[in-house]
Amino acid sequence: MNELKEKLVNLLGDSRRVLVNEPLAPKTTFGVGGAADYFVSPRTFAELAGIVKLCKSLGVNFHILGRGSNTIVRDGGYRGVVIQPLGGEFEKIEVRGTEIECGAAVRLKLLAIEAQRNAISRFEFLEGIPGSVGGALRMNAGAMGWQISDIVSSLTIMNYDGEIVTISKEQAGFSYRNCAVLKNAIALGAVFRGVAGNRDDITKKMEVFANKRFASQPKWRSAGCVFKNPPGDSAGKIIDELGLKGLKSGGAMVSNEHGNFIVNFNKATAKDVLDLIEKVREEVKKRRGIELELEVEVIGEDL
Ligand code: EPU
Repeated sequence: MNELKEKLVNLLGDSRRVLVNEPLAPKTTFGVGGAADYFVSPRTFAELAGIVKLCKSLGVNFHILGRGSNTIVRDGGYRGVVIQPLGGEFEKIEVRGTEIECGAAVRLKLLAIEAQRNAISRFEFLEGIPGSVGGALRMNAGAMGWQISDIVSSLTIMNYDGEIVTISKEQAGFSYRNCAVLKNAIALGAVFRGVAGNRDDITKKMEVFANKRFASQPKWRSAGCVFKNPPGDSAGKIIDELGLKGLKSGGAMVSNEHGNFIVNFNKATAKDVLDLIEKVREEVKKRRGIELELEVEVIGEDL
């Protein structure tokens, strides 16, 4: 056994918790890409701190994966350790009045349902966003005119030395699809604050949002919107106006439902997806003079 694997097994106390050459495609909503050299799922903050410190001391790359709904893994896979916090402290969820404290691995849908059950409003927009609280914080995920920073009160984060601090929303530096602090730290959890509401009204609002989403977004596998919206504009609308919907590269296609989605309609490879992204970017640059920025995160190596 090599040093890294041996130390990871020691940390996690069970060799079955250290997966070698683990395929990442099934762990993402897009379903493309290769395997991680090592894959681990810490259940406690202490385990995560140990893994991060170990990787740092050995000079090994690591990447934190949430629920994989905004990630494209390249076909050659990931050299290093992919860490997906799951269960235990990471899935704790606690309601106190109109506040909900929850761990980074909690699914946004569950958070929305928990708020609804407790008649707490302002969480309705989360119902249809796939993914985890941690990933959503890191990219300030949003929908329906709302973003997660609208309801965050404080965040608990870990730096790459394994130290844990709780910071206010203001200290986190949120902006459109970005959180400055989480560029170099890991989200462990957050406290969200809503307002007291009426359960039926909340349910209705969630239904309205779900219907809107069903009518405008594709059902195929995807990573949601591929590009950030340029200031004051909509990337999906631009792509639509340029007639790029339906454009294909292998098994990947620009969605016919929403121009900012690329879908995996037939066993796409990451290369298919990334080639298509480039084609769309080039067309938009050439014909509109706009440089579209990626909203999804791309990890790993080409084949
Ligand atoms: N539109 C078109 N054609 C298209 C797509 C959109 O004409 O193919 C038009 C729509 O009709 C609408 C406008 O463009 O008038 C904006 O469209 P939409 O409401 O779908 O919003 P968006 O700006 O394209 C953003 C988020 C989505 C989120 C929706 C709904 C970004 C990059 N995207 O999309 O988030 O679901 O609002 O609230 O900010 C994601 O982040 O992965 C994502 C899907």
